Amino acid sequence: MAHGDGISRREWLTGAATAAAALAASPVQVLASTPDWRVDLFAPLPAGNGSMLGVPFEKHGTVRMAIVGTGLRGRSVLRELLAIEGVEITAIADIAPEKAQLAVDMITKAGRKAPQVYTNGERDFQRLVQQNDIDFVYTATPWHWHTPVMLAAMKAGKHCGSEVPIALTTDEAWELVETSEKTKRHCLMMENCCYDSSELTVLRMVREGVFGTLLHAEAAYLHDLRKILFENKDEGLWRRFPHMERDTNLYPTHGLGPVAQYLGIHRGDKFEFVVSMSSREAGLTEWREEHEPKDSPKWRETYKAGDMNSSLIKTAKGRTILLQHDVVNPRPYSRLNNLQGTKAIFNDRPPRVYIEGTPGGERWTPLADLKGKYEHPLWTSVGEIARKVGGHGGMDFIMAYRLVQCMREGQAPDFDVYDAAAWSVPYALCEQSIRKGSAPIKFPDFTRGAWKTSAAPQGPATTP
Ligand SMILES: NC(=O)c1ccc[n+]([C@@H]2O[C@H](COP(=O)([O-])OP(=O)(O)OC[C@H]3O[C@@H](n4cnc5c(N)ncnc54)[C@H](O)[C@@H]3O)[C@@H](O)[C@H]2O)c1
Repeated sequence: MAHGDGISRREWLTGAATAAAALAASPVQVLASTPDWRVDLFAPLPAGNGSMLGVPFEKHGTVRMAIVGTGLRGRSVLRELLAIEGVEITAIADIAPEKAQLAVDMITKAGRKAPQVYTNGERDFQRLVQQNDIDFVYTATPWHWHTPVMLAAMKAGKHCGSEVPIALTTDEAWELVETSEKTKRHCLMMENCCYDSSELTVLRMVREGVFGTLLHAEAAYLHDLRKILFENKDEGLWRRFPHMERDTNLYPTHGLGPVAQYLGIHRGDKFEFVVSMSSREAGLTEWREEHEPKDSPKWRETYKAGDMNSSLIKTAKGRTILLQHDVVNPRPYSRLNNLQGTKAIFNDRPPRVYIEGTPGGERWTPLADLKGKYEHPLWTSVGEIARKVGGHGGMDFIMAYRLVQCMREGQAPDFDVYDAAAWSVPYALCEQSIRKGSAPIKFPDFTRGAWKTSAAPQGPATTP
């Protein structure tokens, strides 16, 4: 779960439902895109050599989607997709028939044809992926199902996208990369935070050289989820369990994805190694003491993950990234999202920038003051509608819109299986580092060297 502009998913589900319902009846037209709508603002990578870098989707007049997992997030994604022209939802799966029914109701109430429904257990997605009229399988299940669903989808000839993270082990990440290359199907991690307004504005400023030489970035997922983690429904049914199983960064990608795009990871740079350490655990244990009835089975649980995980990533080009995770202590939401270059610095929440030489000296300028000059074209074009209908302040709508646009126009997606693997693999690597007393752990090179030659920046060079 991610937050944008302080709007929670639950608030949005109710608050924007009316706007979304109106749009579902009369969906948003997908505009013809221009090259500068690419979210990494690089020229498309040259495709070839068996790699999935830069491989365009085939053109789809109508994009036929399936959703596996129609819980809170799956239905939020569904709402976005129903609001976009040229999308059909042809299949859904959920182990809970009542969750599947909620999704069916949304689809039919929008005046669309009812999808095929698969509710026959945890592996019924294997039947779903065999259905012929599916172009893209979107997975919004608990984490441990992301990889199995994606593998099944690709092997059945479907493109696929997953909620975050895409994989929980290095082996899973490699299997996804290799299966994507073998089947020539895209395997995307749908990292909605890459599409948030501040992130895209900063990305454009980076590509236009405002930050000079990039040195350091900070990325995080800092979100008080204690109440949600202990609920007897939705994420409370599964999301506490990873805290019992592994001590690591359990949710690396919301912060890391956008920062990786600023730094041009896989476009001339790569994550080289990580060192990681966790604080002691206390947040979940203390919450349980204060809120759980003494006869609750949750009292038998032991929480292994330290509360605050802090990791440092070094890149091949000598840049550093601080990556943090804490979801079990009181705090306002943050993804950190900070960037330091030789000419400027950006800090998020509130989004603000200091550019060397600005009259008035070393004072922050609100990012909003620079949007006239640097707003990303996607937000300029469809930002207004995104804010009205879109989850997390609009970024979720922009992500869905952009996916549909790429598929309809036959463009390469904004990120690929290599990005998905590299942004997710800290889940595994941080655990290894912690076990070895915070020793440095090398990142696999999922691109097999292509990161060195795939840099094709537009505008002034910012990544020497
Ligand atoms: N990108 C974001 O901003 C964001 C926000 C929220 C959640 N998420 C992610 O989305 C995913 C789902 O989270 P959620 O909040 O919707 O959780 P949820 O518990 O509300 O929904 C998960 C759904 O998956 C179903 N399910 C479980 N196993 C299944 C299987 N094998 N096959 C089919 N369905 C299965 C469950 O019955 C449930 O309906 C997670 O990966 C979560 O981290 C991302």
